[in-house]
Amino acid sequence: MPRGDLQYQSGFGNEFATEAVAGALPHGQNSPQKAPLGLYTEQLSGTAFTAPRSTNRRTWTYRIRPSVTHKPFSEIGSGLFRSGPFNELPTPPNQMRWNPVPMPDKPTEFVDGIVTLGGSGDPALQIGVGLHVYAANAPMRDRYFYNADGEMLIVPQERAISVHTELGVLGLAPGEIGIVPRGMKMRVNLDGPARGYICENYGLPFRLPDLGPIGANGLANPRDFLAPVAAYEDREGDFRIVGKFLGRMWEAEIDHSPLDVVAWHGNYAPCKYDLARFNCINTVTFDHPDPSIYTVMTSPSAIPGTANVDFAIFPPRWLVAEHTFRPPWFHRNMMNEFMGLVFGEYDAKAEGFLPGGASLHNCMSGHGPDAETWERASKAELKPVKLDNTLAFMFETGLPVRPTKFALETKILQHEYFECWQGLKKHFKGPKK
Ligand SMILES: [Fe+2]
Repeated sequence: MPRGDLQYQSGFGNEFATEAVAGALPHGQNSPQKAPLGLYTEQLSGTAFTAPRSTNRRTWTYRIRPSVTHKPFSEIGSGLFRSGPFNELPTPPNQMRWNPVPMPDKPTEFVDGIVTLGGSGDPALQIGVGLHVYAANAPMRDRYFYNADGEMLIVPQERAISVHTELGVLGLAPGEIGIVPRGMKMRVNLDGPARGYICENYGLPFRLPDLGPIGANGLANPRDFLAPVAAYEDREGDFRIVGKFLGRMWEAEIDHSPLDVVAWHGNYAPCKYDLARFNCINTVTFDHPDPSIYTVMTSPSAIPGTANVDFAIFPPRWLVAEHTFRPPWFHRNMMNEFMGLVFGEYDAKAEGFLPGGASLHNCMSGHGPDAETWERASKAELKPVKLDNTLAFMFETGLPVRPTKFALETKILQHEYFECWQGLKKHFKGPKK
């Protein structure tokens, strides 16, 4: 299935099979005594061997060299990339909002341009998330990255990037998302300043949510997810592998590209998804379904129905509810809501929530429409309205999000955010005494 000059295979968690050179994929068994074309065989497991079949993820790779052929790792600095347990500073219960991180003024590769705003849990426990933005302007040429702490859900906001992984290349543009599984080596190419968001998921891999009474179709459909076809680099030189492991960054010398998988088969694969394909479901009578109706993907926790993290989007859609205050209503939540904006405006806020910016409403912290939006929406004529040119999203987490020291002390934190609700006046007129 060609998309531009890249090729993809359609489906989510399918048993894909792909070879960049004809005959590289063995047939009938996973690890023959000699793999075809002089390749090495290596399995990459994304779940325990004994995980239930429906959630088991593994891929067999046929590669030029096995992954173990590198020099020992040494620790390097991690810049503003942070990890659980996120205990740099106490977490205030305040509602928080940030402006977009500025583009770097020095050459900065994707992995160096990752800035952590907050997170929850701990990668050592494989629970929680790291919530990051990235701002980068230089391609990764001689460095490769892998993350043993979690899979990376990438949400580009400004400029397309191409993510070269062991299993092939994902082209990601704003409006699309990409997922790079835990442990998969990658390098990111870009041809100018690029910015976006990353949810680093320490927990179970993202999967499609169950649909319950919605039925067999709807929300994100599996066929709209695209995995790359095999593509490899047969390249030797003075390269580095950067690994994130237990919250720290490590670097090792390697004399060849680790993206040397010539063929692979399996269901542990990177993928991309165009958010415009999301089949958005909503009320056609009155009131609001809970925002879980917008869930694209979920990483379950051990507690039934309580996600480690949900990825939800608020895409262009028709608003038709009658007798209803249509923007998101005031509420407090057991879950914790980190939001970002890819483009346009979010319907609960008149201003201040910018593309590339972010907001955080933690466990039991009240939030909702600002005063201006409340005034407008309370008086609006309730004819059908198309909400257009907007794409907000939420990483909703089961554990409270603790902002990093950077996030609490940076100039891009909007200290005046609370003021957007201060104009909500008293309208109640009680019985006369
Ligand atoms: Fe909320």
